[in-house]
Amino acid sequence: MNINFSLFILFALAGLSVCSAPLVKTSYGLIQGVEDEHSYMYLGIPFAKPPIGDYRWKQPADIEHWQDVLNASSYKPACPQANCSSRMPQKSCPPSFSEDCLYLNVFVPKNLSEPKPVMLFIHGGNFQYQGASSIIFDGRTFSNLSDCVFVTIQYRIGALGFLVTGLETDQANGNFGILDQRMAINWVKNNIQAFNGNPDKITLFGQSAGGESVTIHLLSEDMQQNFNNVIIQSSPMSIPFKNFEESILLYSYFNQELNCAPRDLACLRSKSVDDILEAQAKAESKVASVKLLEFFEAWLPWIDGKLIKGQLLEFDKWISNFEIKPFIIGTLTEECYIYINLGFPKPVGLTEYGGLLTAAFKQNTLKVLTQYPPDFSTQDQRDLLSVMATNWVFGCSSRRFLEKAFNYTTSPSGKFYQYVFDYTLDFDGWDNFTYCNDHVCHGSDMPYTFDAIESYFTNDGKRLARSHIGYWANFARNNQPGSVNNLEWNNYRLDNKSFVRFQKNFNTFEQNYLKKECDFFDSIGYYY
Ligand SMILES: *[C@@H]1O[C@H](CO)[C@@H](O)[C@H](O)[C@H]1NC(C)=O
Ligand SMILES: *[C@@H]1O[C@H](CO)[C@@H](O)[C@H](O)[C@H]1NC(C)=O
Ligand SMILES: *[C@@H]1O[C@H](CO)[C@@H](O)[C@H](O)[C@H]1NC(C)=O
Ligand SMILES: *[C@@H]1O[C@H](CO)[C@@H](O)[C@H](O)[C@H]1NC(C)=O
Ligand SMILES: *[C@@H]1O[C@H](CO)[C@@H](O)[C@H](O)[C@H]1NC(C)=O
Ligand SMILES: *[C@@H]1O[C@H](CO)[C@@H](O)[C@H](O)[C@H]1NC(C)=O
Ligand SMILES: *[C@@H]1O[C@H](CO)[C@@H](O)[C@H](O)[C@H]1NC(C)=O
Repeated sequence: MNINFSLFILFALAGLSVCSAPLVKTSYGLIQGVEDEHSYMYLGIPFAKPPIGDYRWKQPADIEHWQDVLNASSYKPACPQANCSSRMPQKSCPPSFSEDCLYLNVFVPKNLSEPKPVMLFIHGGNFQYQGASSIIFDGRTFSNLSDCVFVTIQYRIGALGFLVTGLETDQANGNFGILDQRMAINWVKNNIQAFNGNPDKITLFGQSAGGESVTIHLLSEDMQQNFNNVIIQSSPMSIPFKNFEESILLYSYFNQELNCAPRDLACLRSKSVDDILEAQAKAESKVASVKLLEFFEAWLPWIDGKLIKGQLLEFDKWISNFEIKPFIIGTLTEECYIYINLGFPKPVGLTEYGGLLTAAFKQNTLKVLTQYPPDFSTQDQRDLLSVMATNWVFGCSSRRFLEKAFNYTTSPSGKFYQYVFDYTLDFDGWDNFTYCNDHVCHGSDMPYTFDAIESYFTNDGKRLARSHIGYWANFARNNQPGSVNNLEWNNYRLDNKSFVRFQKNFNTFEQNYLKKECDFFDSIGYYY
């Protein structure tokens, strides 16, 4: 057991307040958490200076040592965002936000017998929404069932997280959200021992934009010492990061809305958060007309050549002399169903279908049309669009990533694992997105990954959640997802493309997910 930790347990037992967790000593000062029947919680721990005032659009800065005991009994607000619940289910949206948002939360299993593996989750939300305080990310059950120290972090999103105004040091250089994540991960590496976490056993995992983020860290040479392995959930690998010109174009739209002179950062820093959010929304509606997939993530990392070396499938731009670490990667069977229905509230006819494919695939349109011929039995091609987009943006680009990784390891059988999530929400969780009922929409896995709202689940859902957590925890402990309920999850091999399907009743071990479709997309490429 960690010495600091045992010392502070004694303190706690010696009569600090009831229901408080052991006092923890970090390199920045003491932290008082709270106790729950399932775990100890340390909520709202700052890992960087508040990115406000002059610190807006700057690299995250070190916090200073504090003198008193930090009261870590409640969540801090999420980073600024507007109308989250019109884009995603309410349960994934945080209750409040503030520009002062660079905080993380730590959940510690109560069994303190030995240092635990650490699992650090990066939330998704198009680099624009969500936060660590959303109720589906409540880590009490997860840390208890996984017996891992569980950490959730926040990072700047939207224009506040990703604005690029120029390359000079006095301009906004973008990628702030990724820098925030790196700072939080470093904090965990350096401080988690005090929370009974094993700093040599850190798993990063994330979903959607969080999955893209985790992939960035996986490919970043200077992050390699900070984690052991990663889990990539529903990462849209085909959505291209911006280049400089595209980033500056977005800035010019944004700046017009705020009536600031070009490159006048002082003017932009004087604007209220509400004004920023309004300008952000207007700017992104203009960009949507340029590249189809930019509509989904208008504000996102840009390829600055330093932090972001290329697109996620361009391994050779990132990796020169290190081995890629073990990972689990997977997607859902109907990822894009929600986006197609959000983007196209009315039926999509044949002509519009052809037009959309042309906009998306340019010179390869005919090939895609041959692979996904229109369904003449209906006036509405939205279901077809959803299937095509799910394969292009999620399923096949993730398989491409997985198979490319074999060229960056010396282990011939690899150490990579594939899954497919194929289970519809078994409770009324989609709020106004009623079309997602009975579909496996993007994000359907999140309630089951953490099991935080188990009281809503049927017995099938509970079983599914526990098998999910079982594999994730095995992977954090042993670098292999191992066996859960007698189903052994073997590594993906190029000669035996096997994967686990999470589904109702019993999970199964299968082969060749979307083989024909993905062979097709591999042949035409993913970025347009
Ligand atoms: C910590 O903050 C909570 C409210 O956020 C408060 O109820 C509690 O009394 C505080 N604890 C201490 C020790 O100050
Ligand atoms: C859902 O729809 C109701 C009306 O049907 C509306 O009042 C509410 O604001 C909507 N909620 C969200 C999260 O958009
Ligand atoms: C999990 O929670 C139960 C109470 O529900 C508790 O008895 C047990 O010690 C906890 N286990 C861990 C590893 O935290
Ligand atoms: C506590 O954890 C140790 C090792 O991780 C394990 O052997 C032991 O069974 C656990 N105790 C309880 C009560 O869960
Ligand atoms: C949020 O939604 C309201 C109502 O649709 C709209 O007036 C407002 O402009 C939206 N705000 C942003 C920042 O998108
Ligand atoms: C791996 O490298 C080989 C040899 O350079 C190449 O033929 C193959 O296409 C690569 N595989 C992937 C998936 O990129
Ligand atoms: C290939 O995968 C299947 C599961 O889909 C498994 O049953 C079989 O043993 C695997 N074969 C080899 C050689 O690993």
